[in-house]
Amino acid sequence: MRVTKDKLKELIKTKLQKAGLKEEHAAIYADVLAFADERGIHSHGAMRVEYYAERIAKGGINTNPDFKFEKTGPCTGVFHSDGGAGTVAAKLAMNEAIKIAKENGVAIVGVKDMSHSGAISYFTQQAIAADLIGFTVCQSDPMVVPFGGAEPYYGTNPIAFAAPSSDGRNISLDMATTVQAWGKILHARSKNEAIPDTWAVDQNGEPTTDPMKVNALLPISGPKGYGLGMMVDVLSGILLGLPFGNKVSSMYENLSEYRKLGQLHIVINPAFFTGLTEFKQNISNTMEDLNGIKPASGFSKVLYPGQNNDVVIAEYKENGIEIVDDIYEYLISDTIHNNQYDNKNPFAE
Ligand code: NAI
Repeated sequence: MRVTKDKLKELIKTKLQKAGLKEEHAAIYADVLAFADERGIHSHGAMRVEYYAERIAKGGINTNPDFKFEKTGPCTGVFHSDGGAGTVAAKLAMNEAIKIAKENGVAIVGVKDMSHSGAISYFTQQAIAADLIGFTVCQSDPMVVPFGGAEPYYGTNPIAFAAPSSDGRNISLDMATTVQAWGKILHARSKNEAIPDTWAVDQNGEPTTDPMKVNALLPISGPKGYGLGMMVDVLSGILLGLPFGNKVSSMYENLSEYRKLGQLHIVINPAFFTGLTEFKQNISNTMEDLNGIKPASGFSKVLYPGQNNDVVIAEYKENGIEIVDDIYEYLISDTIHNNQYDNKNPFAE
């Protein structure tokens, strides 16, 4: 099924309102999810609405949060989400970071007690739109073994970085710190297919090719990805006084309780360094350089981070965004699930 971005946003917004979210928050939620689908990041788009709607309906996302921004220094602040929608809290917190970085050159803003915030490049793109560099990291539920470990400790703890150019295109790196997302394991299970032994481990911490035996995901590049995941947890968890490591709440546990996740936005104003014009020009130049690098065999072109998403955006703009039929049917229906996701063990499905 192909739909326009506006139609998709309308469908998501309506469903989330039906689940209990106020219109203003549902509209931002819909914008963040459609942003992901629009660039082919379907794992964090409309397919998540069933889960979010169930959590909202059960009271696990505060539909009337007392959002508060606490400025803690000239360049720092903490956004208190009060269990509210993570997408909304992270967006509003980034707005505060942008204001500070415009004035003072740099901003570091933490977001506390939030729920899941989706594809986090949405927030670094807010910084780009204001001619700033955006960097954001956030916690997610524990399902990754630390290097050498046999049980999960960290989440897939993603990192996003984006920088504006002088030609409207932008560098946008947005990645989990695991080799593969959990969704890829579920996909292999549904198709009864083996997985590469570099993706995940079994109950004993041994690499496995059997998706049914997966007990935890592997970090990217062994100790290096493990270290990056730890960095994300320190910056977005420990720094903000939140639960950390394997004490981070799980996506599918206690859907009636608010989650207490953290996110950290760092915004840098190039005008306070090399100067905005020169910076943006050189970002364009570096993208040109990368596109001009001789491709290795099997590749037609070297892409800059995010360019793969830009290709999808262009195709979807012409033909509509592709949505799985079942998800479309759910969105147009009156259904709000009550027990589809609560206390679902992500390793058992
Ligand atoms: P991915 O593996 O699809 O892409 C990672 C990065 O590689 C992207 O910046 C992409 O533009 C770049 N890339 C891909 N192919 C490329 C190519 N051919 N040339 C150059 N660059 C290329 O992303 P991943 O790790 O699967 O993450 C997907 C989404 O999941 C992200 O939006 C992330 O924010 C989100 N996420 C959110 C979490 C949360 O708790 N909020 C937790 C984990 C992930």
